[in-house]
Amino acid sequence: MAKRNLFYAQSGGVTAVLNATACGVIQTARGYRDRIGRIYAGHQGIVGALTEDLIDTGKETATAIAALRHTPGGAFGSARYKLKGLEESKAEYERLIRVFEAHNIGYFIYNGGNDSMDTAWKVSQIGDRMGYPVTCVGVPKTVDNDLAVTDNCPGFGSVAKYIATSTREAAIDVLSMKQTKVFIMEVMGRHAGWIAAAGGLAGRKRSDPPHVILFPEIPLDEVRLIARIKDCVERYDNCVIVASEGLKWPSGQFVSDTGLKDAFGHVQLGGVAPVLANIIQHRLGYKYHYAVVDYLQRSARHIASGTDVEQAYAMGKAAVDLAMEGHNAVMPVVERISDKPYRWKVGVAKLSKVANKEKKVPRKFITRDGFHITEACRRYLEPLIQGEDFPPFREGLPDYVHLKKVRVRKRLRKRFEVDA
Ligand code: F6P
Repeated sequence: MAKRNLFYAQSGGVTAVLNATACGVIQTARGYRDRIGRIYAGHQGIVGALTEDLIDTGKETATAIAALRHTPGGAFGSARYKLKGLEESKAEYERLIRVFEAHNIGYFIYNGGNDSMDTAWKVSQIGDRMGYPVTCVGVPKTVDNDLAVTDNCPGFGSVAKYIATSTREAAIDVLSMKQTKVFIMEVMGRHAGWIAAAGGLAGRKRSDPPHVILFPEIPLDEVRLIARIKDCVERYDNCVIVASEGLKWPSGQFVSDTGLKDAFGHVQLGGVAPVLANIIQHRLGYKYHYAVVDYLQRSARHIASGTDVEQAYAMGKAAVDLAMEGHNAVMPVVERISDKPYRWKVGVAKLSKVANKEKKVPRKFITRDGFHITEACRRYLEPLIQGEDFPPFREGLPDYVHLKKVRVRKRLRKRFEVDA
């Protein structure tokens, strides 16, 4: 069989372990010498494919590729760019085929969340519908943990560990400071409260922080929240709150709507903590502190979950193996076998079952009062933060790799503009 080249790209928000998946993809693909020619990466996701901006990973040493496993972010650049339907956006698909043909790309491995799996699914159809044979496999990634079918998403376990750790640590600070009564930690997650739920792992007893978790799945009842905070301060002398950026008013409007939208059409969120802090100050007069941990949470490779790193790598490896077995339009998933001891295996899902779906925190994972996680949720979350996988440190700081990112010579004369 003639060798064909492989294209890999990272899409959507990056994570602490996205590059561990890249490491799994590249190391595994390098092992298929007889089947795979060159391994290219798209610069800024699918945009790199459209603009013929390809990175030759063959120019990176084995040591540099291995170091991706412990380096956060997206080493090849990521983008939030969604392809429209095959009919609607024919020019883009024709362009993709031109680029694929010019570079003999026969394998397309796309690493992202639910919007990105939609792109992967569309690309998987260009063989049947447009006559260009390409094997397309999606690879799961998102800190939001909201992808369908897979038990959990690579990226989530590490953000969960960071949030639970930071909640526990900040709560110790609050406890030490007599004057401060309220601490609010704002976390990511968009419409799904998985990251907020992870904050709940910081404590075990009702008196342990966090005392309140605010989920996007539960509309904010201001009166009940204020009563809860007051009660908490009276009982424990302070109240630690973990609030999801996706928290909504009963009207459905985001508490932290910035009025901006990203290229996927999502409302840009951020700023729920200051809004809540204002309300609390106004209604109760308590001294507060808050943290909007923002990018810190999804880049915190220094406290990554060992389980997460292992799964992220395994998903990348499985994606290449699936492509080599001839599977098209699929995505490897994490299948949980048992909670305690935690056991899991690699499964396979159809991209059509994953694309554009959003898995929220089920009601049974949230306590009846809507302010905390249940035992069932704890059972689900706990294994995902287990284990440490510290990066190497040099001169007191984590030692991360910066790739050379040598570009592949362009073969097409025509340039293609992308509004990304
Ligand atoms: O990847 C998802 C996410 O982490 C969301 O939780 C968050 O709202 C979003 O990314 C923000 O990322 P950016 O502004 O970089 O697109």
